[in-house]
Order: sequence, then structure tokens, then C-alpha cells
Amino acid sequence: MSDAIKQQIRDLLKEHNAVLLAHNYMRDEVQEIADITGDSLALSIEAAKTPADVIVFCGVHFMAESAAILSPGKKVLLPRPDAGCPMADMVTADELEALRAGHPGVPVVTYVNSSAEVKAHSDICCTSANALKVVRSLQEDELIFVPDRNLGRWVARFVPEKKFIFWEGFCPTHERMTVAAVLQKKAEHPDALFICHPESAPEVSALADHVCSTSGMYDYCRTSPAATFIIGTEAGILYKLRLESPDKEFILASPALFCPNMKLTSLEDVLVSLQTLAPVVTVPEDIRLRAKGALDRMLAIPRD
Ligand code: 13P
Ligand code: SF4
Repeated sequence: MSDAIKQQIRDLLKEHNAVLLAHNYMRDEVQEIADITGDSLALSIEAAKTPADVIVFCGVHFMAESAAILSPGKKVLLPRPDAGCPMADMVTADELEALRAGHPGVPVVTYVNSSAEVKAHSDICCTSANALKVVRSLQEDELIFVPDRNLGRWVARFVPEKKFIFWEGFCPTHERMTVAAVLQKKAEHPDALFICHPESAPEVSALADHVCSTSGMYDYCRTSPAATFIIGTEAGILYKLRLESPDKEFILASPALFCPNMKLTSLEDVLVSLQTLAPVVTVPEDIRLRAKGALDRMLAIPRD
């Protein structure tokens, strides 16, 4: 059954000159059929340069919006329009403007987990993979960082010379990973390395051997001589970690690491989306142009 759906999806992708992008947290079967899987940064870069006419974005709403911002003229499909990101909803453009008004001249760094409208009111975007580089690229010694307080505070540790004004947004999935859960896994697997995402609470990141974006985790685990890893991010990451390093053991740090939004998209949803060429994600042109400025400034920063 699922093989038949996969074949239909492949045929329709070809027929529509479409590319299927999937975030590293998607269901296994969606990652399996994707043309490209990646973290938010890799998927933004791909969306900006793909020659396809249609982008099928298997992720959450802000990711499809970024694709629509970066690739005008392409049709961007989000198979599940109800796949949102609660952190992205924690700051609005009006709230950001009110904060800015109290800090004239202070640049705003906005995590891509945000709406297009919030990006449009920002100076530069960042992802978890490049946040430190983005902050270091700023001339100013003070900055506003929205919406993720945990990513912001993690970056701030490396740039003590800069003053951060934080927004108190957070990822509910990562914040459900408690210190007690991590310590229990560490006790059960004393030789394992603990790796977590910077969206984790500071007291959890403090326990980590390495803190990085989702794609950073693949690189780290592939090249590390360690045999066992406790993974502190959304469970979807396990699929490719296990595929890439079948001889290594990967243990989820907490059973709470499931993002309900990232788990919504099924193969059936992808198929229907390709059959109907809907739902389409669009961004009003005035907002798109301003948000693109913030994304372009981020993308102009060289990768490692
Ligand atoms: P990255 O894949 O960029 O690390 O993002 C994590 C995330 O929470 C996306 O919603
Ligand atoms: Fe948002 Fe967290 Fe889910 Fe990512 S994992 S989409 S940040 S709620």
C-alpha cells in the first residue's frame, strides 16, 4: 500500500517538476521519499536555489513561508496547513515593534522559527546552525533576539561582549526534556555522549557533550568515535542517525521529545497535495520583500 503511494508521489513529482523537501523531524516514511532532507538552514538554501516549479514542503508553516519568501514565482505546497510551530506564534510583529521602540537603533536577530511578518520587522534571521555566526557578524554591541530564549541564551554564552535583549519564547517540545530524564539516561548509559539542540532549556544544555542543530548532530555522530549517543532533540532525527551509523546506538533523551506538528504530515497528505496542487502557502508581496531582506542577509553569511 505505502509502496503504491510512494510510486504515485514520485510520478506526480516528476509530472509537476516538483521537489520534495523534508525537515529532519518528519515521519520516517516522509523522510525516506524526500528529495532533500535537512535542517532549517539547508532547506532554506535549497528553497532559494532549486530549479523546480513546485516545492512540496514537509515541515511546519514557517518553513514553507520561508520557501515562498525566497522563491517567488514557485508554487509552495504545505501538505498539512495545520502544521504550525507554537514557538513561532509566541511573538507577533506588533509585539516586536513595541520592543524595538524601547531600544532605538538596536538590531533585531530573528530565529527562522517565526512568521513572515515578524521576519519583515527584523534586521537579520538566523537558524540554530548559524546563530552564533549571525550574532558575531553584527557591528553593534547590543541586540534583540527573538523568539527563542534558549537559543538566544546559548549563543550569548559565546559572545560575552554583546548585550542581548531576549524574547521569552520557547519550543514546548524541547522544554519538555527535563534534567531528571537526561540524568536517568546518562546513568543507564554511562559511556554515552549526550547531544542536544540549543532549543533545550539551559540547565539541560549544560549537561551536553555537544550542542548543535539537527544536521550538526548527523555530522557529529558520524565522525565521533563514541558508540552510544543520548539524543536531545525531536524523535524524527533518529531515522537518519540510525541509517547513517547502523553500528552505533542512539537513545532518545526523553519520551516527551515528539513535536505533534512535525508528526502531522503523512504520505497520504503528500499525495493529495500533489494531486490537488494545494494547499499553497503565499506571503503578501510587501511583507515578502522585507522578510526576504532579513533572510538574504542571513544567507549571505558563508557556511563553514
Ligand atoms: P533545525 O533543524 O534548524 O536545527 O531546527 C530545529 C527545529 O525545531 C525546527 O522546528
Ligand atoms: Fe516548533 Fe519545537 Fe516543533 Fe520545531 S520542534 S516545530 S520549534 S514546536
